[in-house]
Amino acid sequence: MAAARRLLGVALMFNICLIPVLSVDRSNFKTCDQSSFCRRQRKFQPGSSSYRAVLGSAKLNADKLEIQLIDDKNQVSLLLEVHGLDGNMTRIKINEVKPLKPRYEVPDVLIGTPRPANLQVKGQDDNTLELSLGEQGHKLLVTGTPFRLDILAGQDLVLSVNSRGLLYFEHLRERKDTLSAKVSSAVGNMWHKVKTLFSSDSEKTDKPSEGDDVNPEGEEVAKAEESKKTEDDEPGMWDETFKTHTDSKPYGPSSVGLDFSLPGFEHVYGIPEHADYMKLRTTEGTDPYRLYNLDVFQYELYNTMALYGSVPLLLAHNIHHTLGIFWLNAAETWVDISSNTAGKTLLGKMLQYMQGGGETPQTDVRWMSESGIIDVFLLLGPTPSDVFRQYASLTGTQALPPYFSLGYHQCRWNYNDEDDVRNVDAGFDEHDLPYDVIWLDIEHTDGKRYFTWDPHKFPNPKDMLSVLKEKRRKMVAIVDPHIKIDSAYKIHNEIRSRNFYVKTKDGSDYEGWCWPGSAAYPDFTNPEMRDWWSSMFSYDQYEGSMDNMFVWNDMNEPSVFNGPEVTMHKDAVHWGGWEHREVHNLYGLYVQMATAQGLLHRSGGKERPFVLTRAFFAGSQRYGAVWTGDNAAEWDHLKMSIPMCLSLSLVGISFCGADVGGFFKNPETELLVRWYQAGAYQPFFRAHAHLDTPRREPWLHGDDNMALIRKALQQRYALLPYWYTLFYKALREGHPVMRPLWVEFPLDVSTFAMDNQYMLGSALLVHPVTEASARGLQIYLPGNGEVWYDIHSYQKYNAPQTFYSPVTMESIPVFQRGGSIIPRRDRPRRSSDCMRDDPFTLYVALNMQGEAQGELYLDDGHSYNYEQNEFLYRAFNYSAGKLTASSLNLNGEFKTSSWIERIIIIGAAKPRSITLNLIGYSETSLEFEYDQAMSMITVRKPSINIASDFTVTLR
Ligand code: NOJ
Repeated sequence: MAAARRLLGVALMFNICLIPVLSVDRSNFKTCDQSSFCRRQRKFQPGSSSYRAVLGSAKLNADKLEIQLIDDKNQVSLLLEVHGLDGNMTRIKINEVKPLKPRYEVPDVLIGTPRPANLQVKGQDDNTLELSLGEQGHKLLVTGTPFRLDILAGQDLVLSVNSRGLLYFEHLRERKDTLSAKVSSAVGNMWHKVKTLFSSDSEKTDKPSEGDDVNPEGEEVAKAEESKKTEDDEPGMWDETFKTHTDSKPYGPSSVGLDFSLPGFEHVYGIPEHADYMKLRTTEGTDPYRLYNLDVFQYELYNTMALYGSVPLLLAHNIHHTLGIFWLNAAETWVDISSNTAGKTLLGKMLQYMQGGGETPQTDVRWMSESGIIDVFLLLGPTPSDVFRQYASLTGTQALPPYFSLGYHQCRWNYNDEDDVRNVDAGFDEHDLPYDVIWLDIEHTDGKRYFTWDPHKFPNPKDMLSVLKEKRRKMVAIVDPHIKIDSAYKIHNEIRSRNFYVKTKDGSDYEGWCWPGSAAYPDFTNPEMRDWWSSMFSYDQYEGSMDNMFVWNDMNEPSVFNGPEVTMHKDAVHWGGWEHREVHNLYGLYVQMATAQGLLHRSGGKERPFVLTRAFFAGSQRYGAVWTGDNAAEWDHLKMSIPMCLSLSLVGISFCGADVGGFFKNPETELLVRWYQAGAYQPFFRAHAHLDTPRREPWLHGDDNMALIRKALQQRYALLPYWYTLFYKALREGHPVMRPLWVEFPLDVSTFAMDNQYMLGSALLVHPVTEASARGLQIYLPGNGEVWYDIHSYQKYNAPQTFYSPVTMESIPVFQRGGSIIPRRDRPRRSSDCMRDDPFTLYVALNMQGEAQGELYLDDGHSYNYEQNEFLYRAFNYSAGKLTASSLNLNGEFKTSSWIERIIIIGAAKPRSITLNLIGYSETSLEFEYDQAMSMITVRKPSINIASDFTVTLR
């Protein structure tokens, strides 16, 4: 793969067109068996745990329990901490009592110190300690021998830890063989030397481990130290070779692992990024799901291989409970899933149940990480929205996107020069297609020197940006984190002279091969480096940039074409002396964090940034949007965009999208049109294409197809107010924008594995057409006693039901839930900014009780003034023939001239009259039309400012 990538790089330099062969070269990426810690851990099979918790050592203060754990196989002792956390969560930490050097604890992901909640001992016997946990009456049982933890809700067991005895903790040790012993007998010394490489080191994670204060029974510690010396080494513990790369592993084995059992759960989700179904499957007989940020060239679908980003959060759901397990570790991680019902048919399970036999269904999850400590948060729900809130309280919510970024983005690798940009931009106007942003890929730079412009192709970037600005449009330019090694390049010189590059194990600047050729990698884990990087986005530093230009961070896994698995060597050294191994999955988050800071600072803290990233980690939602990388123009890739974005949404990253049209290969027109239709209903909506593909702007496919694309774009733009309101709710409450059906219908088991249709908020159900030559599709509308309306035809459907819906090329099956009100802006415009003062139409879809409700969030769309209450948050309620509008933000103020130009009430009987009451005015009657066939009322021109409180009464 690295070779293929290099070949591609060379081909691109010489402008040779390669025809890509579309399948990943798996041999470039490790299997579990080739990753020695995964192999060691997987060899270790379930059984009775060799660990015991020394209950006599338990220390409890208000919110924290500390207990000594001893491994009876080798007498090594660990310290277990159990933290009670506010909001129905608990945190479990396990670390060595006295590690030879500090073990890495992930910084900068949690948004603060989680608020503690009291733990209380409720009972104790020889082998068990019972504690109360949280406000919801959960109990925690700590069993001494063998060590396990069980969490109960009332009498129900909801989660067990180490019940399969898979707690695995490789303590740091001296190397045994004499030669190496000379080298590494002083692991501690080496650690300190490495740290001195970094002048700006802080004490952040180098504090003595908390375990130091704990005083285990002296004899046990002595035994432990003795037996550490007698353990056998296994291959791969002290160095590991993959292909041509050797990882020197100066600190030896350090992996950690733990198992969690979820009785009663058959559905687990999350742990992106994988190109796989939303519902995680069992990994018996396959590799575990891998979390290791990698640039996987031509990734394959339906497997557990690692991709560009990682969020180590797993969710479990059944009709009683939703839970989350957040494994806070940024090293390479593998997750095994097993289940006692896997492989059994539904009928088999039912028979077993009816005969009263069989076990409770159960899912078991096993986490394995290469290093760090065990630091895991158990989010105890019990509802889906509780879990979202709990996770958001730890890692933050989705940043509120600037309004424009919810519009359509036009990208390709590459728009070649200023004329090209101007022509494409004009093409949208000429063909009456709305769009907001045009993108520039790496070719716009001067020889892949980011922050610069190719002097021949882009001599006047400000003029180009000004033209876009006049049209109320934006540009996004790419800034990758690899820096060309070139003594004439200012950015490189500055980073080098400030000693901000990642180092090799020998202390020189780490160099790798990427788009510019030989490149070095800024150490984004260093806060000083990030500050400096941010300062490079100020207008005087980033020449040619303007306030309508935003940024795309790519290749930030980091991608190193000639590195092991196309990434950085694990023994490279970062700020504070930490090996790359420890921080790998954090690197991309830090790049996006520093870039977003830069955009914020260039505006004096006033303007919301927009930054797209390819690599991500838990918490990346705070810094912008994510896309699913280099997909292909294939129908299965279109299908896969839904589960991939649902999995991201479930773990807090709502602003997700896939390259519309597919990055590699050339989509047939039907696929391209279907992709626009699907993309119009996904949060981040951008078309993108590989350098070698033929041009595919919407007008290049014939008028009929362009008309279909135009319709999809117009639907997107009409619903922007709804999208924006959903993003506001995501910001405030942590709820995903795009969500699986089960989140809205948590009792409906038939939705639990559904990932070909989904909800946008709680009001729209979307089932895009993702099959070639489709004549129709099966649609499921959930909700006992609920009704749904086709948003295009207003046809009413009773739920629950599955029905066959015939489709044409125009169809984008979307249904509005009875009981909801959706505000839209239906006037087609050139860009979202041109719609700023446009009027609204309220779509009131009545439920069986003749009721509906909805919200609208509105602000200036670009600044942080909403934090000073400069926003409108309107509530609409329809019941007993009255539609009322009121404010959910009484102190909020935001001036707008937007008014309500139409109210459409669907599912209503014909009224005799409709009147409007506005405070301070006498009642006026309103004109309306009634469509008998559709039971639909259209109230024309009520002419009410959107900020006004009013009542519309139907009599
Ligand atoms: C890889 C990215 O995934 C792709 O979107 C981009 O076009 C190329 N890098 C070139 O920058």
